[in-house]
Amino acid sequence: MNNNFTLAPRVFIETYGCQMNVNDSEVVLSILRGAGYGMCDSASDASLILINTCAIRDNAEQRILGRLDHYRLQKKGNPRLIVGVLGCMAERLKDKLLEHPAVDLVAGPDAYRDLPRLIASLTASGQKQINTLLSHEETYGDISPVRMDPDGVSAYISIMRGCNNVCSYCVVPYTRGAERSRDFESILREGREAIAAGYKELILLGQNVDSYRFGEVGFAQLMAMVAQLDPTVRVRFSTSHPKDIKDELLLTMAAYPNICKHIHLPVQSGSNAMLEKMRRRHSREWYLERIARIREIMPDCSITTDVIAGFSGETEADFEDTLDLFRQVKFDAAFMFQYSERPGTLAARHYPDDVPPQVKTERLNRIIALQNELSAESNRRDVGREFEVLVEGFSKRSTSDLMGRTSQNKACVFPAAGHHKGEYVTVRVLDSTPATLLCEAVD
Ligand code: 5AD
Ligand code: SF4
Repeated sequence: MNNNFTLAPRVFIETYGCQMNVNDSEVVLSILRGAGYGMCDSASDASLILINTCAIRDNAEQRILGRLDHYRLQKKGNPRLIVGVLGCMAERLKDKLLEHPAVDLVAGPDAYRDLPRLIASLTASGQKQINTLLSHEETYGDISPVRMDPDGVSAYISIMRGCNNVCSYCVVPYTRGAERSRDFESILREGREAIAAGYKELILLGQNVDSYRFGEVGFAQLMAMVAQLDPTVRVRFSTSHPKDIKDELLLTMAAYPNICKHIHLPVQSGSNAMLEKMRRRHSREWYLERIARIREIMPDCSITTDVIAGFSGETEADFEDTLDLFRQVKFDAAFMFQYSERPGTLAARHYPDDVPPQVKTERLNRIIALQNELSAESNRRDVGREFEVLVEGFSKRSTSDLMGRTSQNKACVFPAAGHHKGEYVTVRVLDSTPATLLCEAVD
């Protein structure tokens, strides 16, 4: 550590949204460290506060606006404090965000290399600064992220940025720009660095990982190369798109024991009419065929999904189709949302947000109740079985219990008894809840 450390400006970064945002924050920290910034764990010690934002639903944005109001008060006590907004909401709202009294700086997802310059200009001129240019090339491939959780077990590696699908409800193509894949050499380098730093699990991230392509290398080949880095290190990925997930990937997953047997495959709706309007570019039947193929190739693979209740024009019959698809697939877990219209999307322009809020909420509650039963059933099926889990730390409830995940990404809780974080432990499932497998270690 250098002696000037205490004099160095300090940054605190607050992250909302998806895993990719967490990884972007790690890239930002790396860029700022290169510019002389130290990191701090608390906003009250910081000279620069950055909020890395999400724009996916209105409630995500409302929460962030609430944080900005909070920081406005903090700035009253410390007028030299700089507050910047990064990420998807920065990209969506652009200079409108500069109107907020707390905001000094706005930078979109492709503008992070420009942060040191933006901060220097702000400091020199006292003028608010903004860069929301999107890029066709930027992958931050050469930047080694400064890990948010240096003692953690899992490391995120972004393998691509942006999205070329135009799902009609989704703001992401507008906030993250066109799809581009990162060169595989830099992905492998980052994987090796993470392994050398002690991480036991690499999680490859992209909006649509199945369309990864760098020269001759597609996603299945990339997964094989990452899996070969170290057979004792697990590999996961997120997110797949049902229209693009290939047998080749499923066969690669099956071939490598260290590739985790879990696929997150967002379905969004079980109704063909809704899928069409959502521009998902696949049918319910196609989705069910992909599920059947996953289970044929990997009978042990868990499958999770995302679903939206109350999209434009969704009838009770459309929603019943979604419930029916859930019953048929028996998802192990799901992220469930009410439709939130996003300005500027195809849906906002062409399809009125016409399902009343109380109907959206009622449907969301019904699908949550159904998934709760399905998750409980899925976990009950595991009682009596043995799994190898990777220990992530203490359980939420007690420091005498550990929590580790199975390859299928299920959380197992078991008495610590000399085991520790980062270790692989074989456990036997004794009992279950909808969210957790209650286990004992098998020595
Ligand atoms: N409203 C509600 N949920 C949405 N998602 C994406 N856009 C919207 C929206 N406008 C959900 C989808 C996606 C997940 C990340 O967020 O289910 O898979
Ligand atoms: Fe939110 Fe989507 Fe942006 Fe991730 S990519 S931060 S989920 S809007």
